[in-house]
Amino acid sequence: MTSRTRHPLFATKSVDQLRADSERPHGLKRTLTATDLVMLGIGAIIGTGIFVLTGHAAAANAGPAVVLSFVVAGIASGFAGLCYAEMASMIPVSGSAYTYSYATMGELVAWIIGWDLILEYLVGAATVSVGWSGYVVSFLHNVVGVSLPAEWTGPPFRFDDVQGHFVSTGAVLNVPAVFITFLATVILVVGIKESARFNSVIVAIKVMVVLLFLMFATKFIHPANWHPFIPENQGPGRFGFSGIMRGASVVFFAYIGFDAVSTTAQEAKNPRRDLPIGILGSLAICTVLYILVSLVLTGVVPYQLLSVPHPMGLGAAATGMRWLEAAVELGAIAGLSSVMVVMLMGQPRVFFSMALDGLFPKFATRIHPRFGTPYVTTILAGGFCALCGALFDIGVLGHLVSIGTLFAFALVSMGVLILRRTRPDIPRGFSVPGGPYFVPLCGVATSLYIIYEAGWQTQLRLIGWMAIGLVIYAAYGRRHSKLRAETAAARHSR
Ligand code: ALA
Repeated sequence: MTSRTRHPLFATKSVDQLRADSERPHGLKRTLTATDLVMLGIGAIIGTGIFVLTGHAAAANAGPAVVLSFVVAGIASGFAGLCYAEMASMIPVSGSAYTYSYATMGELVAWIIGWDLILEYLVGAATVSVGWSGYVVSFLHNVVGVSLPAEWTGPPFRFDDVQGHFVSTGAVLNVPAVFITFLATVILVVGIKESARFNSVIVAIKVMVVLLFLMFATKFIHPANWHPFIPENQGPGRFGFSGIMRGASVVFFAYIGFDAVSTTAQEAKNPRRDLPIGILGSLAICTVLYILVSLVLTGVVPYQLLSVPHPMGLGAAATGMRWLEAAVELGAIAGLSSVMVVMLMGQPRVFFSMALDGLFPKFATRIHPRFGTPYVTTILAGGFCALCGALFDIGVLGHLVSIGTLFAFALVSMGVLILRRTRPDIPRGFSVPGGPYFVPLCGVATSLYIIYEAGWQTQLRLIGWMAIGLVIYAAYGRRHSKLRAETAAARHSR
């Protein structure tokens, strides 16, 4: 059902058309298997969230109860993951949440989501690049004995939570963050199969160091570090219940990434079956690992000491095993690289879909004749990511990415509900359990609640980002939209 009679802002794309489009040749190669997709998911999920932000959330927001923050964020991601799996199995086209909302809630919402996804993938990759930089600096300093100059390894500004505004740090640029972005961009321009292979090796290393950490650090837990498990509240978002919830909005970043699997729909061999496997499989594995790691980390190191650029490295160092510290830090460096690759792979594919619809300039659809990759947008995304990573601190970037993504999750969950009502006839490779209402409504409610708990500064930044997006839509997308043109032509011919 296309809604030709609706106002163009709310006109939706035809789901049938999207499904037919997904079958057509599109220039991208279909090479990815179910295992590749699970690996891709884990590659995108385990990263700065667990390696860095766990420590920050424990020290500033939740204390040892950061474990509960992970449970809360995991529940919200679980609901959203189920909704993504249903959508991806029904409309297996690249573009992720953007395409799903175009088919359910119309062009304006689709634009908002597409713009929001830039936060998730592009600014998300920048956040990870800053985490990567922190681990490289501490690895070189603690393990190799080389100190990099502070003014070239940090952002020029940092947001001071206590003063409530940005303060100068004395640094100039975060050069390691720019360097890793450059490297990831080059890998992605060369080709997706190569990227997937590279990703599988790194994912294996990353999961192995997490398991090593769990195996060896567990013996060094001091149960006294878990008391009090929920430190007393010291104001909004600082410990107590409100701290656990604020912590959930911070560590939510750790779960982001499973949806990047859905952006590769047009490169998957059997998308209807394998996309749900990729999304839910990777999410389940990571949730278990996160809960265990946060429990062990806060048991080994007093939570007050965890606000460092390399909290898991610190946890490993606390065992006195130098090799474990080196392994964890090297594993983190490799693991964060793989997150960057997947995130920077998702972004150009969203631009690609938006450009096909006329909402983004046409150059975004250019595919490299030899490598078969969307190279122009990959380079564009890499450039913007490098700029953010060079200039901003991890807290500001990470918090904004988390709530931006939660917003996208809420809309995708809503889309599942809408399509169950308007198009029950379409076959779904996977359906959310418990009928059309329960999971989608829980997905919307949990995502919105965590956004509510994130604090007004971050909420304000999200609103600012969205306002910029709406101005660009009014100036460009609205005028070039293909669906609008078709709708107008259909009206004329009546
Ligand atoms: N979940 C990814 C990370 O934690 C984005 O780095």
